[in-house]
Amino acid sequence: MTEPLKPGDPIIVDVALGERAYDIVIGRDVLRSLGGRVAALRPGARTAVVTDRTVAKFWLEKTEASLSAAGVATSRIIVDEGEGSKTYAGLEQVSEALIAAKIERNDLVVALGGGVVGDLAGFAAAILRRGVDFVQVPTSLLAQVDSSVGGKTGINSPRGKNLLGAFHQPVLVVADSAVLDSLSPRQFRAGYAEIAKYGVLGDAAFFAWLQANHADIFTGGPAREHAIATSCRAKAAIVARDERETGERALLNLGHTFGHALEAATGFSDRLFHGEGVAVGIVLAAELSAELGLIAPSDAARVGHHLAAVGLPTRLRDIAGFAQEGLADADALMALMAQDKKVKRGRLTLILLQAVGRAVIAPDVEPSLVRDFLKAKLANGA
Ligand code: GLY
Repeated sequence: MTEPLKPGDPIIVDVALGERAYDIVIGRDVLRSLGGRVAALRPGARTAVVTDRTVAKFWLEKTEASLSAAGVATSRIIVDEGEGSKTYAGLEQVSEALIAAKIERNDLVVALGGGVVGDLAGFAAAILRRGVDFVQVPTSLLAQVDSSVGGKTGINSPRGKNLLGAFHQPVLVVADSAVLDSLSPRQFRAGYAEIAKYGVLGDAAFFAWLQANHADIFTGGPAREHAIATSCRAKAAIVARDERETGERALLNLGHTFGHALEAATGFSDRLFHGEGVAVGIVLAAELSAELGLIAPSDAARVGHHLAAVGLPTRLRDIAGFAQEGLADADALMALMAQDKKVKRGRLTLILLQAVGRAVIAPDVEPSLVRDFLKAKLANGA
C-alpha cells in the first residue's frame, strides 16, 4: 500500500486491458481538466453529456465549460434521477437523444453522475451504432470506487436489477474528489461501504489503515484520494485479470448477494441505499464465514465494528421498517437471493472470508445452510 499523496497531485490509476486500457484520474478539481483530456484522447470528437437533474444543477455547467474551453463540441441529455431511469424507457430516451444529437462512431458519450447515469449512459453508448466510446465522470463515492470502473453497464428489467447490459469499458474515468463534498453524509457513507469492501476482500493492511484514517476520508483530506485510488487500483487489478467475471471478479460481489436481497425486500427505496445493503451484506457474509469456521468470530466482529463506527447499518434490525414483511423473513430473503445472478442450478454462490483481507468464492453453498443461518439471526433479534 502506498502512502497518501500530498493534496493537489492527481493520481492516475491504469486499467491494464491491452488496447482497451484506460486511465482513472483522481484528485480534487480534476473535473477542470476533463476537456483537455478528452481533446487529447479523441481530437475532433463531439460529446454528449448524459446526466440527471440533481447532478446537472451542481456540475453540468462546470463540465460543459471544461469541454468548451478545450474546443470540444458538446450537447446535454438530462434524465430523471434514480433507478427509475435505468429502464427500457430511460434507455430509449437517452438513445434517441444521442441519435438526435448526431453522435457518430468516433464521438464520445460522457456519463456525468452516479451509478445509475454511468450504467445507463454506458449501455446506451455500447449499443448506439454498435458501439460508441464513452467517458465516465462519476459524481458519487460509490461510482468513483466501483461502478464507473470495469465496464459493467446496463439497465434493470421489471424482473430484476441489471438483467440487461453489456461489458463496455470507458476510455477514461475522471473522478473529482471535491465533487463528493456536495453528497449527503448518508450517501457518502453508503459509498464508503464499497471502499471498506476492498480492504475486507483482499487487503488487510488497507482495512487497518481505514480503521485508523476513516475520519479524514469523510472530511475530505488527502486520505480521501488515497482511499479512492487504493480502491480503484484493487478493482483495476481484478478487472484486468478477469474482465468478464469468469472467476476472480466475483470477489467484488462480497456482501452483494445478501445486499441485493435486502434492497429488493425494501423495494429499492430510500429505506436502504445500495451501499448500505452491501454493508449489512458484508457483515452477514463475515458472520456466516465465522459460523462455518472459516474465520474467528472476533474477525467478523472487527468488520462489523468498523462499518458501524462510520455510521453504516450492519444488522438487519438497523434497516428502516425491519419488522415489515419480507425483511424479517428468512424464506422471503432466500427467495430474493434465488433471483440473483449469483445462483446456479439451485446452489448459491457466496463470497466468504478466510481472513480479514482474504475472500474466497464459495460456488456451491447449500441454500438450507444459509436459510438456517438467517433464521437463527432473526430468532436472536437479527
Ligand atoms: N461491482 C462489481 C463489479 O464491477 O464487478
